[in-house]
Amino acid sequence: MTALESEHAFPPRTASYEADPEQVERVLLLYSGGLDTSVMLKWIQDRYHAEVVCLIVNLGQPGEDYEVIQGKALRLGALECHVVDAREEFAREYVLPAIRANALYGGGYPLFTALGRPLIAKLAVEYARSSGCDTIAHGCTGKGNDQVRIEATVATLAPELKTIAPVRSWQMGREEEIAYAREHGIPIKSDPAHPEVAPYSIDDNLWGRSSEGRWIEDLSHAPDNDVFQLVTRPELAPDEPEIVTVEFERGAPVALNGERLELVALIERAAEIAARHGVGIVDHIEDRIVGLKVRDIYEAPAAAILLSAHQELEKLIGTIHQNQFKPQLDRQWAYLVYAGLWWEPLRQDLDAYMASVNERVSGTIGLKLYKGSARVVTRSSPNAVYDASLASFAQSGGLFSQTASPGFIELWSLQSRMAWRLRNEPQGL
Ligand code: ARG
Repeated sequence: MTALESEHAFPPRTASYEADPEQVERVLLLYSGGLDTSVMLKWIQDRYHAEVVCLIVNLGQPGEDYEVIQGKALRLGALECHVVDAREEFAREYVLPAIRANALYGGGYPLFTALGRPLIAKLAVEYARSSGCDTIAHGCTGKGNDQVRIEATVATLAPELKTIAPVRSWQMGREEEIAYAREHGIPIKSDPAHPEVAPYSIDDNLWGRSSEGRWIEDLSHAPDNDVFQLVTRPELAPDEPEIVTVEFERGAPVALNGERLELVALIERAAEIAARHGVGIVDHIEDRIVGLKVRDIYEAPAAAILLSAHQELEKLIGTIHQNQFKPQLDRQWAYLVYAGLWWEPLRQDLDAYMASVNERVSGTIGLKLYKGSARVVTRSSPNAVYDASLASFAQSGGLFSQTASPGFIELWSLQSRMAWRLRNEPQGL
């Protein structure tokens, strides 16, 4: 008998929303088809004597075969297995607000996982209710941000539902999980060449892909080539640069290279173009919300070009005061979302500000993509606070008088000059 199957008591509950094992009758499991959630699917049936309904959410993870995963769930005893294509909702309601907020956490992470979790958990609540489940189960560990995002969402939207997070409590390592899987006829995918090597821990959707684990935890280890599965390594990217133009209307990207596209298709196309040129790789040190400092390798090609283009256009349209102020709110927005507080009213308050600024963010930005870099090279907008004749060096006239400048400088620098004198003259205090 493995540790898993021993009849030792369930660990005591800490939070009010954690399920009392006695009361678990039907569980909605957020299923991915991977080792953890497959073991869980069996384990919940065995340990809780409960029925399991599976939910698989499509957020545009590349190369996923949802029918295969669904078949696997049903073979492992799921009562039902729903597959929901949430790409459109994800793009419109989660990624688009992130673009309007230029959302990057810690200066580099475009939040794809953090944006996906509240939607996945919201769908889990909907399907749990319609399938008569009392509990939601997920495969997050106790060390990550994802448990926070999912459980905070469920506890906010559905106080009547409970959650269980078996990976957090079952205390099995990978070896024991594999043994459990073998014993229970759960098929496991492993690299046939190196069956003993644990795979990277991957999470992805249409906004990006993260890899964690293995050598990534060694900060002195430069990335091995095999981690890059989405973005071409810059050294292998084409020798010819490519220019891509992105057109925005009210802060939303609407066309690429002049071709109008629906948002999901546009994000997918942007990812393809940027990935080809090695754009979107981020080797990131990150402060998790649960206190840990970790390293992630991100591949986020679509975000790399759409966020840069949006930010550039916004800068062209905003005044100096707006441009000084908005990044503070952008950072707050990214932090709230990273921290699992999607449903916090402050996020909606911030969104109202983002929407107000973005009312005028229409125009086109051109970027030059070349071996890993994406550099803005052209800009145009009917709303730009820009006048080429005012900006050019020599002339005076129109709204600008160069003879007014010395007077401006005298007053603008007045307090600084006075303070300097006080600090640097012998009679100063
Ligand atoms: N560090 C990122 C975040 O906290 C990515 C997490 C990826 N999640 C995962 N289960 N592999 O959002």
